Amino acid sequence: MTTFKNFIGGKWVPAKSGKTFPDLNPANLEDTVGEFPASDAKDVDAAVAAAKKAFNGWRLTPAPKRGELILRVGEILTRRKEEIAQAMTREMGKVLKEARGDVQEGIDTAWLHGSEGRRLHGFSAPSELPNKAGWTMRVPIGVAGLITPWNFPLAIPTWKSFPALVAGNTIVLKPASDTPHCSHLLMEVFEEAGLPAGVVNLVHGSGGVVGGALVNHPDTRVISFTGSTAVGKGIHADAGRMLKRISLELGGKNAQIVMDDADLDLALEGVLWGAFGTTGQRCTATSRLILHKKIHDEFIHRLIERAKKLKLGPGLDEKNEVGPLINRDRVKAVDEYVKIGKKEAKLLCGGAPATEGALAKGCFYQPTVFDGVKPSARIAREEIFGPVLSVLTVKDLDEAVGCLNDTAYGLSSSIYTKDINNAFYATQELETGIVYVNAPTIGAECHFPFGGVKDTGNGHREGAHPVYEVFTEWKTIYVDYSGSLQRAQIDNRKKGE
Ligand code: UN1
Repeated sequence: MTTFKNFIGGKWVPAKSGKTFPDLNPANLEDTVGEFPASDAKDVDAAVAAAKKAFNGWRLTPAPKRGELILRVGEILTRRKEEIAQAMTREMGKVLKEARGDVQEGIDTAWLHGSEGRRLHGFSAPSELPNKAGWTMRVPIGVAGLITPWNFPLAIPTWKSFPALVAGNTIVLKPASDTPHCSHLLMEVFEEAGLPAGVVNLVHGSGGVVGGALVNHPDTRVISFTGSTAVGKGIHADAGRMLKRISLELGGKNAQIVMDDADLDLALEGVLWGAFGTTGQRCTATSRLILHKKIHDEFIHRLIERAKKLKLGPGLDEKNEVGPLINRDRVKAVDEYVKIGKKEAKLLCGGAPATEGALAKGCFYQPTVFDGVKPSARIAREEIFGPVLSVLTVKDLDEAVGCLNDTAYGLSSSIYTKDINNAFYATQELETGIVYVNAPTIGAECHFPFGGVKDTGNGHREGAHPVYEVFTEWKTIYVDYSGSLQRAQIDNRKKGE
């Protein structure tokens, strides 16, 4: 059994308490990936102190040089892609093809932010006074605390850490305790790429203890979190009281609309991938299907036929299409929702954990579809984060849009239609941070803003340029070379003007 360590100040160290926790394979709970440090606030103190110490040297390293190190990280990730994907499937469960996609998203993120080191643009503008100049620049904030989920165990840590680092911050990463190994591998990559000691730090442990200590530490000035809305609200309150920069990517209740004029073959492929890809464990997963009543019966018939045939099993076997849920607690939580659903709507397929043969050793759940779901039903409103799809029926586009927007969340949405006017109208009216036309609700690309409205977040975006609003402060510089005192707003106006 391998015992893994934290990475603090350039050294691999155990938790100060010496305690550890096991990291299990969700496809076979008898398979333990390793033991990881069960850290506490003392380990967080050490990591934040190391990051604080490294900040000055890193801040003064030219941004293009910082970017070059991230490009090197991308090269190493490319070299180790298959190995990391295999490790990810073993520890997180998603099928190998998707795990490779997750690593690729990290590689793409390296290419994007590595080159951003040469494009951390500010702007200049003419002064209102003669012989005076003004311009702006982005400066790093300090130590960033990054708290990441288990569902994209490589991609999401890269979404947060690469721009944070290119911008000149130092980081302490606290990965989900269900997927510590992927972050361990990312740290190895950072180490090999040659990031200076203390610039990147990793502390394993529970969200409540380690995450809480990071959020409340006076020296972490930025907190970036992806996870549930309930936890996000707590982080916002705690870090908000300390006036920290906070970026939150939270829950979703994403929906796909299928209009009566849609290409039904395409819409069917879309919803199967959106609802059951990653076993429904994406923030962007399709949790609701909104069908035009004219195509309802035909579409449902075809959907159920296909959903029943999806091949469940360990993701390391490339024949399998749907892997396990992340752990037994999640199986229980999904099953609770399915029990509620059975009272609220009509179960068409699935509806129970999958326990045949070897599947009993893991956390498998049958792809599940409910029909006749009312907009007021709990399974239509609450995030389930599993392979459960709620079908609602509507009579026209306005009802479809109203139904899709009738949720506390607003991450991703999709509409399948061949009518160009309806498609454009939907892009205007759908209240989500991401809208897809004739494509499923999942599959965002790293160079576009990622995030949502309403209870999905606090208005920040990851990806592309907007992520630099999370990880930088604006500094405005004025240089007066007139040799005299020029009083802005006073000396550039004549009396009475
Ligand atoms: C997430 O589920 O938090 O858009 C991230 C997608 C992926 C990222 C999902 N590229 O589905």
